Amino acid sequence: MSLQELFDDLLPQIEAELRATVSAPHHSLSAYYGMMHYHLGWADESLAPSQTNSGKRLRPILCLLSCQALEGDTQQALPAAGALELIHNFSLVHDDIQDGSPTRRGRRAVWDIWGMAHGINVGDGLFVVARLALHRLGERGVSLSRQLAATLALDQACLALCEGQYFDMTFEERLDVDLDQYLWMILQKTAALLAASAQLGAIIATDDANQIERYRSFGENLGLAFQIQDDILGAWGEEAATGKSAATDIRDKKKTLPVVYGLNQSGDRLAAQKLSDLYSKQGPLSETATRAALALLEQVGARQYAEDMAEKYYRLALQSLEQSGVENSAQNGLRALAASLLRRQA
Ligand code: IPE
Ligand code: IPE
Ligand code: MG
Ligand code: MG
Repeated sequence: MSLQELFDDLLPQIEAELRATVSAPHHSLSAYYGMMHYHLGWADESLAPSQTNSGKRLRPILCLLSCQALEGDTQQALPAAGALELIHNFSLVHDDIQDGSPTRRGRRAVWDIWGMAHGINVGDGLFVVARLALHRLGERGVSLSRQLAATLALDQACLALCEGQYFDMTFEERLDVDLDQYLWMILQKTAALLAASAQLGAIIATDDANQIERYRSFGENLGLAFQIQDDILGAWGEEAATGKSAATDIRDKKKTLPVVYGLNQSGDRLAAQKLSDLYSKQGPLSETATRAALALLEQVGARQYAEDMAEKYYRLALQSLEQSGVENSAQNGLRALAASLLRRQA
């Protein structure tokens, strides 16, 4: 099966699971759940049903393919897949507030329409619905010990994500972030949840701790490559493709990999100094300063460096997958998924 065929098979199941999980218990709450539906791509700004960009649904796909690769039953894994996507979406709703980003997936962010207070509450709601979604594992016949293992792994990843967001935000004010600190930050804010996605799929399929660890490690390395790619897109991506405002990471002094490289590199000291001067001024970078910073980053080879690093973690991800010794169509799907993420423009 091609990657597209795997997506065509799994996506409708994921959407059905999500819709069953995120539904208003009473009509008086339809606007609250409507805002969640808006964010998930099922409603427009007036909360009327519509089908728009829902995002890639990458984490549930990773979970289900990992489960399938280990010969598990994807029907059993669907509640975990749904929970992972909802945790991801809780983090995006809050991330857009934290980053002051008015655009998400080519549409206005929740907070930009309904204000920050509702944005926080919509994110909180998605978070709890995700936790509750995991309780559906029992209804699908997943053993209590596997349910507990899945819950623990998801909670740990979620806490890591919040810790990573803390670093991401505090790094904005710093000029001395080094490569290790950067890698630790993205490990937590992004790779932890991708690691948990593959791990949860494996947990539903098997009790073999070694195999579970290999899939977790696959997800983790893929997550590192994925965030580095996101950093490249955050600097040089096309707004029309990413659905996010262009170069806001640069404007907001985010310590993305190209910037960390640019500020630390010793080959072209003059360029590094110019970059650090731009970043030393109070507040966000002006449009002119953003353009100047992007030109300096290109000049010192920061883009190429970041692309090489993404490639490195992609290869490490594939190595973890190979160590499992598994060969089947789901495993091929995971390989194809990883390759497609390295080439992604959105
Ligand atoms: C965006 O994640 C945030 C990061 C962790 C880089 P995705 O690129 O997976 O977002 P969607 O769900 O597809 O929009
Ligand atoms: C990604 O944050 C990580 C989380 C949302 C937890 P970013 O701020 O780097 O992602 P985008 O670029 O807004 O999607
Ligand atoms: Mg952001
Ligand atoms: Mg952010």
